[in-house]
Amino acid sequence: MTESESRQSNASSANGGDSVVELRGVSKRFGSLEVLRDVSVKFRRGETAVIIGASGAGKSVILKHIVSLLKPDTGEVHCRGERIDTMTERELVAVRTHFGFLFQMGALFDSLTVAQNVAFPLVEHTKRTAADIAKTVSEKLRMVGLDGLQEKKPAQLSGGQRKRVGLARAIALDPEIILYDEPTTGLDPIRSDIINELIIKLQRELNVTSIVVTHDMASVRKIGDRVVMLHEGQFIFDGSPEEMETSDVKIVRQFVEGRAEDEQLAGIRMKGKP
Ligand SMILES: Nc1ncnc2c1ncn2[C@@H]1O[C@H](COP(=O)(O)OP(=O)(O)OP(=O)(O)O)[C@@H](O)[C@H]1O
Ligand SMILES: [Mg+2]
Repeated sequence: MTESESRQSNASSANGGDSVVELRGVSKRFGSLEVLRDVSVKFRRGETAVIIGASGAGKSVILKHIVSLLKPDTGEVHCRGERIDTMTERELVAVRTHFGFLFQMGALFDSLTVAQNVAFPLVEHTKRTAADIAKTVSEKLRMVGLDGLQEKKPAQLSGGQRKRVGLARAIALDPEIILYDEPTTGLDPIRSDIINELIIKLQRELNVTSIVVTHDMASVRKIGDRVVMLHEGQFIFDGSPEEMETSDVKIVRQFVEGRAEDEQLAGIRMKGKP
């Protein structure tokens, strides 16, 4: 077994049976581009797992498999003990109510108010009264520190506020599992920290399982119970943030240190500068 295979097998077998989400031998290609190669990983109930990896490594593709927005070419996806990749769209509706998804691009409806955005899943998936929905919307907006902004439109909000509205919408149905796709990208360090604190608070107060894709190493260190790294279609690292800091895997070290290799910098460095 190579080092990478052994780490990958650790990712799939070392964490017992209490997994809420599991990928088993998932491969995915788009045309000639092989994005995932026989990926196996389990996410445990209540943990905050962070997925790191280069741009284009397939992190968003992994999240989309977890909610069955993409189907594997081979392999299986399991959620809460059920195989979901073979389910019909109709069957998936019920499964997806257990998930909150904070999309990479925010994905708010621009023509709807903040309140209507947060209410959207409640209107779609429940038969609750308008008054009851308004109460939940306030409660969720309060959790993300934005109660009072109900009547604003997304265009009137800052980037950080939009992310928080997306988060309020993601938790509208009290999900068991929240998927975050780059929740702090594009935010200043203070607003990033607010999002990190919210992720921690939701994990504690709602006891959710969080799977967070991020490039932000400050986030990884602050929120992660566990870090997995995707590289060339496979998970090449699976460990605690502390283990990540001391990892001797080259690509992990580069991420930790935020450093490009000489060959990646060829042609960029200015003459005379180190
Ligand atoms: N629906 C699709 N059709 C074709 N190619 C796709 C599709 N979705 C993703 N890809 C390709 O798969 C690769 C992985 O994409 P993905 O969005 O998962 O990357 P990522 O790791 O999330 O990157 P980033 O950090 O930039 O968001 C990319 O090369 C992307 O172009
Ligand atoms: Mg992505």
